[in-house]
Amino acid sequence: MSVPLLDLTRQYASIREEVEAAVLAVCRSGKYILGEPVERLEQELAAYCGAGAAVGVSSGSDALLMALMDRGVGPGDEVVTTPFSFFATVGAIVRLGARPVFVDIDPDSFNLNENGALAALTERTKAVIVVHLFGRWSPSDRLLAQCEKRGIALIEDAAQAIGCENSRGRRAGSVGHYGAFSFFPSKNLGAFGDGGLLTVRDAAAAERLRILRNHGMKPAYLHHVVGGNFRLDALQAAVLSVKLKHLESWHAGRRANAEKYPAAFEEAGVPPDQVKLPTPGKGRHIYNQYTLRCADRDGLLKHLQARGIGCAIYYPLGLHLQPCFASLGHQEGDFPETERACREVLSIPIFPELTALEQREVAQAIAEFYKRG
Ligand SMILES: Cc1ncc(COP(=O)(O)O)c(C=O)c1O
Repeated sequence: MSVPLLDLTRQYASIREEVEAAVLAVCRSGKYILGEPVERLEQELAAYCGAGAAVGVSSGSDALLMALMDRGVGPGDEVVTTPFSFFATVGAIVRLGARPVFVDIDPDSFNLNENGALAALTERTKAVIVVHLFGRWSPSDRLLAQCEKRGIALIEDAAQAIGCENSRGRRAGSVGHYGAFSFFPSKNLGAFGDGGLLTVRDAAAAERLRILRNHGMKPAYLHHVVGGNFRLDALQAAVLSVKLKHLESWHAGRRANAEKYPAAFEEAGVPPDQVKLPTPGKGRHIYNQYTLRCADRDGLLKHLQARGIGCAIYYPLGLHLQPCFASLGHQEGDFPETERACREVLSIPIFPELTALEQREVAQAIAEFYKRG
């Protein structure tokens, strides 16, 4: 039996009527960019995240870029962040001519080490981007306190973490000065294409970002700042409002699957000294990915692919070693925990509609690899 890493057709089947009605309503409205569906989604998501306000944008990548632009980040500025993330986290910094200052990760959480980040702050630091990677909270209380004191922006890259909570129940996007979200289809809340959102603390910040989102323009053809076309489509917003009603039950499904894996691994005989399962941390992990650390990861990957078991490596190369960032002058060995994670990680199926039978199949296929030695 093959098992997909993610099967969005199962989710679609469960919401088909609702979503098709919402899409049809937009088609018939004749209004396709921003408008009422986007305003509604912004209100719903500001409330869901516990943030002061929210602004719908074109993608998670653009949300990060806009947060940095709003803060005036540019050449000569430093932005402290993690080298173990999706490219967009750092791409946004470099596109603006600023310098990313990398800090290694904690091996258990895969997230930025908070002490390391505190030590990396300098006079030139204009922002810190923490990433709640895979849907697990990246600790930021002490960082936030320092950022507030020193006039530095704390940006939460919550692209993979909508609904993720810290140990006090505060949701991603409600703690920092900005929360950047992605609605890429594979996220826990995914659109039918690209989309994103920025959460901020107050209406004044949201108003600035709404202007930035539309080429810095207000009213028509009067441009206050150089922004971009960072607008969200009405169709995507309408789909997302429908899906938001189901988000808590989908999170619950992912979390239930995460809780079942340890027993399935044990039953299948996966050797615990070869495969380490993820830990949830102190808050609410929403498991956008369920990421193992594995001995002979590349061998296991090939074996699972041959068996038809969906799996993927997020991420195979630290951002400090990406060819396009060569001018930063980093070398192998600079961030050992990130580099070790890049050699060991493997994400396996966790989506809410995954069946217990499929989970057992995944565990058995992994056990089989290590038994063959
Ligand atoms: C951590 C992280 N940051 C940023 C992004 C960028 O989001 P988007 O693909 O919507 O541009 C992603 C998307 O995969 C992500 O995982």
